[in-house]
Amino acid sequence: MLVSAKDMLNKAKAGKYAVGQFNINNLEWTKAILLTAEELKSPVILGVSEGAGKYMCGYKTVVGMVNGMLEELNITVPVALHLDHGSYEGAKACIEAGFSSVMFDGSHYPIEENIEKTKELVGICEEKGLSIEAEVGAIGGEEDGVIGSGEVADPKECKMIADLGVTMLAAGIGNIHGKYPENWAGLSFDTLDAIQQLTGAMPLVLHGGTGIPADMIKKAISLGVSKINVNTECQLAFAAATRKYVEAGKDLQGKGFDPRKLLADGVEAIKATVKEKMELFGSVGKA
Ligand code: 13P
Repeated sequence: MLVSAKDMLNKAKAGKYAVGQFNINNLEWTKAILLTAEELKSPVILGVSEGAGKYMCGYKTVVGMVNGMLEELNITVPVALHLDHGSYEGAKACIEAGFSSVMFDGSHYPIEENIEKTKELVGICEEKGLSIEAEVGAIGGEEDGVIGSGEVADPKECKMIADLGVTMLAAGIGNIHGKYPENWAGLSFDTLDAIQQLTGAMPLVLHGGTGIPADMIKKAISLGVSKINVNTECQLAFAAATRKYVEAGKDLQGKGFDPRKLLADGVEAIKATVKEKMELFGSVGKA
């Protein structure tokens, strides 16, 4: 059964480790992530962007697929199904469809409007026992087609949003979605520290997990980050393994064209990436 992300993240914050959010795109992705989490006895959050939701034929299809897998793969570790960077309408649609967690990304609104909309959604989620993530200070890089340079959030605004009763808070600290540019300045740990001092026990979320060096990840966890989002890195690993399979001509040998064979190396590559991240984040054995 899907669970809210609240308990797993509160435990992570108290235990100074982080739970990974891995974004899903299809059946292969979902299966690879769930099996790895089960094998490593790690809690996990499956992230679904609005675009990926549309691609997978809508939120109800996603909920059906994930619930079916939890049962048929005998998954016993805590799993949350979470809308990633949701709009106000998207968050409501996912709540309706049976997600156990949503993110409302109001970071592009003026802070007053972000507060107002976040507050309304917090009320709905509280009533239904779902977790809700809010965002302050837009994350750079590409967020559903919009390219930004990595804002740094105002800690006081973070405190205002945290006080609305959200479950977890994403704050821009110079992080970027996708690959980091050569001249990236790194994470702003001073900002992160100021945010955690003002928000106390609130689990903080680090987006743009792809390509952040291990020492920075560890430092971010020590400063209150308890959820780390990874998307692009699984895509790169899947694409590289699939390319290798085709370039080696394996799709032309025997039944190598069978999608179950064609995609198998890519699936293994996703599993290896998820395993590496869970080990780095410290969530192994915490289920
Ligand atoms: P990456 O694609 O950079 O790993 O970011 C993932 C993310 O933050 C999803 O919200």
